[in-house]
Amino acid sequence: FRRSYSQLHPQSERPSFGIAFDIDGVVLRGRTPIGGSPQALRRLYGDDGTLKIPFLFLTNGGGVTESKRALELSELLGVHISPVQVVQGHSPFKELVNRFEDELIVAVGKGEPATVMSEYGFKKVLSIDEHASYFSDIDPLSPYKQWKTKQMLDSMYNSKEVNPRCNVYSDRVKGVFVVSDPVDWGRDIQVLCDILKTGGLPGKEKGHQPPLYFASDDLEYQAAFPSERLGMGAFRIGLQSIFNAVHDSPLEYTSFGKPNPFVFKNAEAILSNLVYNMYPHQEFAMEGRGHTFTTLYMIGDNPKVDINGALKAGRPWFSILTRTGVFRGKDNDTQFPADLVGC
Ligand code: G3P
Ligand code: MG
Repeated sequence: FRRSYSQLHPQSERPSFGIAFDIDGVVLRGRTPIGGSPQALRRLYGDDGTLKIPFLFLTNGGGVTESKRALELSELLGVHISPVQVVQGHSPFKELVNRFEDELIVAVGKGEPATVMSEYGFKKVLSIDEHASYFSDIDPLSPYKQWKTKQMLDSMYNSKEVNPRCNVYSDRVKGVFVVSDPVDWGRDIQVLCDILKTGGLPGKEKGHQPPLYFASDDLEYQAAFPSERLGMGAFRIGLQSIFNAVHDSPLEYTSFGKPNPFVFKNAEAILSNLVYNMYPHQEFAMEGRGHTFTTLYMIGDNPKVDINGALKAGRPWFSILTRTGVFRGKDNDTQFPADLVGC
């Protein structure tokens, strides 16, 4: 960050650059901060603790609300992170709320996927755990999954609090949202095939496939284990291969998250808004609300996702590839070369 600081304009002027940090493999490995990431982040704040350099986290991960993730990150990294500085793979799902009005949707993945979708405004949400629990024998392997009983009861209890009224035998599932990495791949692939094949009524006749959305399409990501772990993209391949083998029309789906250019456009808008909030509003009155950056840095560990995304988004994005996660090459990545390769 030393070089970045020297780019700062004199005190009265607004910052010419902003930063988007990837989380897994750049800032954290599991729940452990990587290298000096807490110290580096602290340098983006003034002595009084106010934000001096606009930055946000741009992660394809998720499973909890942005406010809960902001609290977790603040604790782990020792700086105050606001929920607006957290953009997760599923954050754009909130834009789809009007498309589903009062219709039943199913939310899949680790953490609290149904709570996330309810917070975005979806009115009739069931987690896949709760939805599956209403269909006895839907998973013939469940008797062998004793380890899961308590977790399932807890999540059923929580989901029922979120949405007590719903009849899964007559209400078709009108949309499926894979919010975070699925936990029980076998059960989830089985239940999703049931929902998608029948037009939302497991056990019934074939019907039109409801829309399916994935928060991201990462094949692999860096967690606490030394080598990469299979991500949501790997789950998507599994579901797609099986669905296409058991059904006559191919799986239709949409993936969000990096490397989609709209994610970077949205990040730019949030960073510009942060500057708006950091500086006296009258400064913006003459020129409209937007703030123009000379450079926006994307710092990521995954060439296919983070660097590819910044390349597609174009200037002012400038990509920095770290060797702390998925990428371990000696030089630059050959397929998606970053503007700079870090340590
Ligand atoms: O599940 C998390 C993973 O897909 C990537 O997270 O922070 O590296 O974008 P991140
Ligand atoms: Mg990463």
